[in-house]
Amino acid sequence: MRTAVDLPRAYRLLNHGPTVLVSAAHGGRRNIMAAAWNMALDFAPPKVAVVIDKSTWTRELVEASGQFALNVPCRAQAAATLALGQRSGRDLPAEQDKFAAHGLSHFAASRIDAPLLDGCVAWLECRVLDEVHNQQKYDLFIGEVVAAWADSRVFADGHWRIGPETDPALHTLHYVAGGHFFAIGDAFEAQPLPAPQGYS
Ligand SMILES: Cc1cc2nc3c(=O)[nH]c(=O)nc-3n(C[C@H](O)[C@H](O)[C@H](O)COP(=O)(O)O)c2cc1C
Repeated sequence: MRTAVDLPRAYRLLNHGPTVLVSAAHGGRRNIMAAAWNMALDFAPPKVAVVIDKSTWTRELVEASGQFALNVPCRAQAAATLALGQRSGRDLPAEQDKFAAHGLSHFAASRIDAPLLDGCVAWLECRVLDEVHNQQKYDLFIGEVVAAWADSRVFADGHWRIGPETDPALHTLHYVAGGHFFAIGDAFEAQPLPAPQGYS
């Protein structure tokens, strides 16, 4: 079940480094691409950063609309993630889009026009904060998160609930290269080393 995530806790959806899918829409066109280079950037208001290359069609839609969504896919979506990261929506006929072409369904976001991909385990709706230098020089887009959602089977009360009892198909994806992924591994708690002398 999809539940809202409190915005100050939205950073937790990305803090463990999942590969995401960036979706965007403008002028009746929609698209989605894979992005391994993403991160949380702030607590409140929450911000995220993601690299969106100049060659991508997603970038055109993000720049035109000033919005994007980060969809957090799971292991069941590894093949879809690769497909969305290896084929451009620009190469499809105008009446098609990457979602339909790959048999992927989507639903409406609450605060932005970008569609959200069904079957993901988390979604962050973002508005672009204009940082033209970063965009031009580093392809780096910074967005303010205006709404966030998660699948309550794996993220509830502000925490990931991924463990031995969770369906492995719902584990988040972590991309290396060449079609090689890790799925998220063991969760554990740690305490810091005892404070050395000199720390109060
Ligand atoms: C797993 C994966 C991760 C990727 N990460 C990024 C990324 O962080 N930034 C980026 O610009 N492109 C990344 N790419 C490449 C884009 O997803 C790819 O260029 C895509 O085809 C662009 O689609 P579009 O033209 O429909 O927007 C990645 C590809 C894969 C397969």
